[in-house]
Amino acid sequence: MADSPDATTTPTDTAAVTPEAITEALRSVIDPELGVDIVTLGMVPDVAVNGRDVTVTIKLTIGGCPLRAEIKREVTDRVSVHPGVDSVRIEWGEMTPEERSKVMSTARWNARENAPDTAIAQRTRVLAVASGKGGVGKSSITVNLAAGLAAAGHTVGVLDADIWGFSVPRLLGMSDRMDAHEVDGRPRIIPNRRTIGDGVLEVVSTGFLVEESTALMWRGLMLTKAVEQFLRDVAWGDLDYLLIDMPPGTGDVQMGLARLLPRTEMIVVTTPARAAQTVAQRAADMAARSFLPVIGVIENMSAFVCEHGTEYALFGSGGGAALADAVDVPLLGSIPMEAALAAGGDDGEPVVLHGEGPAATALRAVVDRVRTDVAPPRGGDDAVDMSGCSARLLDAVNAALDAADV
Ligand SMILES: Nc1ncnc2c1ncn2[C@@H]1O[C@H](COP(=O)(O)OP(=O)(O)OP(=O)(O)O)[C@@H](O)[C@H]1O
Ligand SMILES: [Mg+2]
Repeated sequence: MADSPDATTTPTDTAAVTPEAITEALRSVIDPELGVDIVTLGMVPDVAVNGRDVTVTIKLTIGGCPLRAEIKREVTDRVSVHPGVDSVRIEWGEMTPEERSKVMSTARWNARENAPDTAIAQRTRVLAVASGKGGVGKSSITVNLAAGLAAAGHTVGVLDADIWGFSVPRLLGMSDRMDAHEVDGRPRIIPNRRTIGDGVLEVVSTGFLVEESTALMWRGLMLTKAVEQFLRDVAWGDLDYLLIDMPPGTGDVQMGLARLLPRTEMIVVTTPARAAQTVAQRAADMAARSFLPVIGVIENMSAFVCEHGTEYALFGSGGGAALADAVDVPLLGSIPMEAALAAGGDDGEPVVLHGEGPAATALRAVVDRVRTDVAPPRGGDDAVDMSGCSARLLDAVNAALDAADV
C-alpha cells in the first residue's frame, strides 16, 4: 500500500506492494458460482511479491473448472490496478477432496446466512423433486408425494417451479385462478387449496395465472424471478412440507433455490436405465454446484408385472440403485410403470390416494419413508439445524463427483 512501505520493497518504490495488500484486494473477487469471495473460500493459498511482480496461486475446486478464464480475468484486473504492480502471474492448483468439501461448507453456510426473506416458515421441510433429464416423472412423483403427505394429515405446499411447462394443475385436477389480497398489510398471492383427508394441499403454479395456450409468452420471463416471487409473495401459511416440482434441464432454478432457500433438500428421480453413470454424474454435479443436499433417490418407470406374472423391464433395471449408490443416499422406492398412474394424472386424482395397483403401493411406501425416516416434519418452534447432516451428504456428493471425475 502506498502509505505503508514494506521491507520487501526497494526504497525507490512509490507504492509498496505486500502479500497482505494483494490478498485484501482479492477479497473483492467473487466466485461467480458460489457467490463468496475467493479468499474466504480458501482458493488463494499463496500470494508472492517480488518487487513489482506478483504471483497469485489459485486453487480451483476442480481442475477443468469452466469459470477459470473468468476468475483469471478478475484476479488480474484486481491486482494490476494496485499501484506498484507491474505484472501479475497466476499459478493454478486443484483442491483436494477435503479442501473442496470445506469450500462447500463455507459456501453453504454463506448462502444460509445471506438468504433473503421468503414467506416459508422456518420449520417447513423444503423438498425439491429433480432429475438429471426430462420426462422421468418428476411432476407425477411430486403430486403423489404431496397428496400422500396430505392424506397422512400434513399441511403441504406444492410449488410448480416449471414456470412455463407447468403440469401440476392438471395432475391435481385444479384450475381456479389464484386470488391475491392483503395479508398483514402486504399484497399476497393466495395458493389454491385442496383438502385431502385431515391434510391440506396449498398449490401455486403459473397455470393458475395464465391459460395453457398463452404460457409460451412467459418464456421471456426470468425463471428465477418467477420462483422468487412465488417464494416471497405467496401467503403460504404454516406448512409442514413444501414440495417443489423442478423444471427439466435448466440449472438456473436450482441455483436460484440454493440462494433463496438454501435449506432445500433434493429428491432425485431417475429411470431404471443403466445409463446411470451419466445420470448419476449429472445429478451429483447439479447438487454439488447448487449446494443442495440430496436426501434420496426414487426410481420411476421400473419393471411392471403383468397379470400373468411376467416382468417387463421396459426401461432397463438397476438405474435407481446405481444412482443411490453413487451419491450414497437411500433408494426411497421403485415405482413401476403402470397405466393407472398416468390415468390418475389425467383425472386429477393422484394414484397414491386410492389406487390399488403396485405403483400406488410403492408410492405410499415412499411417502411413509419420507415422513418417518428421511424427512420427518419438524416441530413447531424448535427449528432443527441440518448443518451436520448436510455436510455429510455433501461429502457424499463430493465423493461421487470424484469417482465420476467430473
Ligand atoms: N410410473 C409410471 N407409469 C406410467 N406412466 C408414467 C409413470 N410415471 C410417469 N408417467 C407418465 O410419463 C409422463 C411424464 O411424466 P411427468 O410429466 O411426471 O414427468 P416429468 O419428469 O415431470 O416431465 P418434465 O421433465 O417434462 O417436467 C406422463 O405422461 C406421466 O403420466
Ligand atoms: Mg414435470
